[in-house]
Amino acid sequence: MKKITKAVFPVAGMGSRFLPATKASPKEMMAVVDKPLIQYAVEEAVAAGITDMVFITGRNKRAIEDHFDKAYELEAELAMRGKDELLRIVREVIPPHINCIYIRQTDPLGLGHAVLCAQPVLQDEPFAVILADDLCDGEPPIVKQMVDVFAQHQCSVLGVKNVPRDQTRQYGIVSSTKLSDDLEWVNGIVEKPKPEAAPSTLAVVGRYILTPRIFHHLQNVKPGAGGEIQLTDGIAALLAEEKMLAYRFKGIRYDCGSKLGYLKASVALALKHPEVRDEFAAYLQSLK
Ligand code: UTP
Repeated sequence: MKKITKAVFPVAGMGSRFLPATKASPKEMMAVVDKPLIQYAVEEAVAAGITDMVFITGRNKRAIEDHFDKAYELEAELAMRGKDELLRIVREVIPPHINCIYIRQTDPLGLGHAVLCAQPVLQDEPFAVILADDLCDGEPPIVKQMVDVFAQHQCSVLGVKNVPRDQTRQYGIVSSTKLSDDLEWVNGIVEKPKPEAAPSTLAVVGRYILTPRIFHHLQNVKPGAGGEIQLTDGIAALLAEEKMLAYRFKGIRYDCGSKLGYLKASVALALKHPEVRDEFAAYLQSLK
């Protein structure tokens, strides 16, 4: 029985939909209420029992490394001023038993290429891929749900959600055969199909458990949609030799790579945040 202990966080994208905010700082460091997107993603992995976090970074991403590093000066300053609660928050950004590993993707050649960059660390282990800009809110956390599916079936698992048909162009879309209420056997997957050509409306949304055989296929993938090495094309090739599940996870996913999704996540999570929720709800009421 294989266990998932490593997660890959591809964070080397350009974040062009958020320019100028992402001109000099990473999209993944944008805060939803008071935590950066990448911290939500890492917390999701920690909750699933994952201990090794592999970040695929690029230019202008140094802030991510700093965020998960010890901040000596800040901690000393907070301690000196007696700000114990803030000190606790800063120290708890990353639990002590977690390893952070950084690999540089020198050119943003696509999500598939970013995942391939993790091969030297992952070797022959199954692993999770988590896209921090897809903020997922669920209980148990979504990666934990998927790790449990993997534990039972020992095959790759794709996190999926139904999307409106006019949005299929934004996603990898699967065709599948129902196994149970929340699981489907994947028969095929295509990247960004036109609505009229999409095999279904079941979209892969930023959460994957993959077997290490994916690396073999990613090495052979030719640039696809948008001239990028697409993870979807690697998954399609993997599907030809291994069974794979699509899992309709329980929870809400916010597309924080888009302005509207990011705003929705900010409102939804602010309404759950103990410090601001009451006043914020009253404020929203006052706008009506
Ligand atoms: P996106 O295409 O959604 O992100 O890639 P982007 O390129 O950062 O954003 P836009 O479209 O320009 O606004 C999905 C995920 O894959 C990562 C991104 O960081 C994001 O988390 N990615 C993408 C890489 O790590 N490397 C790449 O070459 C491409």
